[in-house]
Amino acid sequence: MKSLSRSQYILDNMRNAMQPNSHASRRISAVAMAVALSSPLAAATPDERAKALEARMTPEEQQALVHGIMALPIVPGTVMPPDAIPGAGYVPGVPRLGIPALKETDASLGVSYVSGMRKDGATALPSAALMGATWNPDLLREGGAMIGGEARAKGFNVLLAGGVNLVRDPRNGRNFEYFGEDPLHSGILAGAAVTGVQSAGVISTVKHFAVNAQETGRQILNSKIGEAAARESDLLAFEIAIERGQPGAVMCAYNRVNGDYSCENAELLDRTLKRDWGYPGFVMSDWGAVHGVEAAIAGLDQQSGAQLDKQVWFGAPLKQKVASDPAYAARLRDMNRRILRSMIAANVIDNPPVKAAIDFEKNAAVARRVADEGIVLLRNRGVLPLVAGARSIAVIGGYADTGVLSGGGSSQVAEEGGPAAVIPMGGEGPFAFLRSAYFHKSPPLAAIRARAKGAAVTFNDGSYVADAARTAARADVAIVFATQWMMEGYDVADLGLPNGQDALIEAVAQANPNTIVVLQTGGPVLMPWLDKTAAVVEAWYPGARGGDAIAAVLFGEVNPSGKLPVTFPASYDQLPRPRIPGWDTIDKSFDGTGNEGKLLDVDYDIEGSDVGYRWFARKGEKPLFPFGHGLSYTDFRFGDLKLSGGNSLTARFTVTNSGKVAGKEVAQAYLLSGPQGTTRRLIGFAKVDLKPGESKVVTITADPRLLAQWDKPRHGWRLNGGRYAIGVGGSSADLPLTGEAVVAPRTIAP
Ligand code: BGC
Repeated sequence: MKSLSRSQYILDNMRNAMQPNSHASRRISAVAMAVALSSPLAAATPDERAKALEARMTPEEQQALVHGIMALPIVPGTVMPPDAIPGAGYVPGVPRLGIPALKETDASLGVSYVSGMRKDGATALPSAALMGATWNPDLLREGGAMIGGEARAKGFNVLLAGGVNLVRDPRNGRNFEYFGEDPLHSGILAGAAVTGVQSAGVISTVKHFAVNAQETGRQILNSKIGEAAARESDLLAFEIAIERGQPGAVMCAYNRVNGDYSCENAELLDRTLKRDWGYPGFVMSDWGAVHGVEAAIAGLDQQSGAQLDKQVWFGAPLKQKVASDPAYAARLRDMNRRILRSMIAANVIDNPPVKAAIDFEKNAAVARRVADEGIVLLRNRGVLPLVAGARSIAVIGGYADTGVLSGGGSSQVAEEGGPAAVIPMGGEGPFAFLRSAYFHKSPPLAAIRARAKGAAVTFNDGSYVADAARTAARADVAIVFATQWMMEGYDVADLGLPNGQDALIEAVAQANPNTIVVLQTGGPVLMPWLDKTAAVVEAWYPGARGGDAIAAVLFGEVNPSGKLPVTFPASYDQLPRPRIPGWDTIDKSFDGTGNEGKLLDVDYDIEGSDVGYRWFARKGEKPLFPFGHGLSYTDFRFGDLKLSGGNSLTARFTVTNSGKVAGKEVAQAYLLSGPQGTTRRLIGFAKVDLKPGESKVVTITADPRLLAQWDKPRHGWRLNGGRYAIGVGGSSADLPLTGEAVVAPRTIAP
């Protein structure tokens, strides 16, 4: 039997009591009725409660919740309210009605450090790219709960997490904040992360809605994309993340989509999000992304960081509109209801955050588990795992003696006491201080030393290539640590490793055939030296215990199970856009002040919904490393595929660990062809933990939207009936099992 909450029970009884001849009408007492009506529990659902609360608000109070400030005193003109916590944002509440202020902090990887302005540290999860590489929603739920718990313990009730833009360009400076290039994979993982955050009693966002696929000129970027292409790719990632995670808020983006700014885009906010998907929460703007009061009519519910915009549009201008235009008046009520609904649903009214001590050791262990599952072994010519036999190991470069790299910008997290090192990356202007690479206090060198019992471990910082090569030549094994720093607001100029690190790796690999390269990058890089290396490990930005996680993988203490959530291209001409649009012509500074009056059109219909590996499949291009790729220290065998069709498509198969050590495999199922022709599309995945010799049966049922096409004239999904072929295996390019099934035609509402 479904268990009823107390308030639901009271309401149900009330409803029964209203039926003229019901027994309940005789049973329920007038006292119970009075209690039910006056108690805050009277309205059982968040919608009902929000509606009742909104009805009690004065016009002034209704203005309060719809705009907030960036809660950082460094922004000129900012007056910090006495109860504000330095962080991303503050929206005043309505104390008279028990509505608390919204206290907002970034972001998806933990409670952000805001350049030390709050002077308290937090636990850094690995980058979202690494989290994407885990392919493990349960783990991300745990990670979300951990960072949500820290946000709450610091007094915040909103965490601006849930970055779910698809990786359309490997150079996008925020790729480290996103899960990958596939909508199903990103949607499932983001949904899980959001569920975790909100389980801690904190509202989470998903962001940046939508098609914010490059940072270069993000304020003047106009993402041009057809309706079907968007629905089948970037929007589908949001749709799935929202269905699964039920985030309290959706953050719209800086860029325009098909001509209209995301935050005043009625097609995106009103039609797609609110009407088609029935989204009940609120849309908050990105900071400095609102350009007029009309955004309210298009579907924006809250102006964030309003002092960054030209005007506090949702202040006096909205008030004026509300006084003269019923459409605005109706919207203001709806805006308030939506915000209140999310506050109630996430429990921030009934159970407000209480400042509390944080168990950083325990939380770092969560970050470590995520890192363990998201580090990807890209190549291994037998050198890994390192065995106790090596007498000497040369560790080279990448600040491996200091810590592990993290990505910059609003999502930057640092530990208690501050980061291990802050390296200024150069730049001018008021935001130049943000251009600093932070290293977390988890040095790989110490972690390697702790495990390399009996071996001499030497460190060379890699500044001088010839010297590093000589150090490598004298050792049994050389481990080169290479870094690519990325930051919000800037794309990387190219996919080479900066500061001559490609030459360093080349020389070290030349000097020592047992060269292992450990990459800490935001996303894909080119590897001109690949063939000369013995092994390559992609560690992304591995978070608070990254150094330990890297060493654990190198020494086989952890069997790598990460799989690429993005395609690593072999060259620029394989990409839909070999050069970053606007790179050579526009002002690339953080705030892009020199771009006033300019517009940067980017045509995403080149690839359309064929993002990443789908583009490579369409073009017949062979990448450097395919989507879904990742090696293990054991072997897996796939067998016994059984497919069934009908209303959707279900694949059943077995995965066997045929090797000698325990390990985890990510079983992936792809659509290969259907009545529309050939394609490649992830339709499901499962991470399976197997002891040596063990087999498990995996069942994957495709979400029918993944077999369908978006039908613009009919405004819905159209699934053509016919034969569908799928492939199953351990990577998008390694599908040992294939089969076909007949699927019935159907249409699916948007
Ligand atoms: C970023 C958002 C972030 C916000 C608040 C913006 O610049 O795009 O992701 O949540 O700032 O710090």
